[in-house]
Amino acid sequence: MKVLVVHGPNLNMLGTREPAIYGRTTLADINAMLTEEARQRDMELRLFQSNGEGEIVTAIQDSAEWAEAIIINPGAYTHTSVAIRDAIAATGLPTVEVHLSNIYAREEFRHHSYIAPIAVGQIAGFGRESYRLALIALQRSVKS
Ligand code: DQA
Repeated sequence: MKVLVVHGPNLNMLGTREPAIYGRTTLADINAMLTEEARQRDMELRLFQSNGEGEIVTAIQDSAEWAEAIIINPGAYTHTSVAIRDAIAATGLPTVEVHLSNIYAREEFRHHSYIAPIAVGQIAGFGRESYRLALIALQRSVKS
């Protein structure tokens, strides 16, 4: 299975960004873990991070021909972006929404996701393990 992994804004700052919430794991650590997990599961990944909403939309559009599924942590765009939601919906690809933190245990504005209604499912609150669980969930639930 070919999977596009999208990391949204500020996730490039993991490691130093609000460690009490997000821990000390860096984005490079997460990508290395995902790469190894995918190798063991015979999955192929494309890893992408951007702080820009339009760049994320373009990356989703560009990968639509190649990818069979999407894993996305849209960061703060989770709570604001109709454009990213529409881009995912346009691909028709099974998508898992991922969050490091439990967004429902945080501020009220984080409780709403524009992405969740068009996703296969959402995994939140398990730190970097949320990403690993997303890979496993896709492999077990989606036929490639
Ligand atoms: C986040 C949660 C979002 O509310 C926040 O804006 C982020 C990270 C998470 O992974 O927990 O940037 O998506």
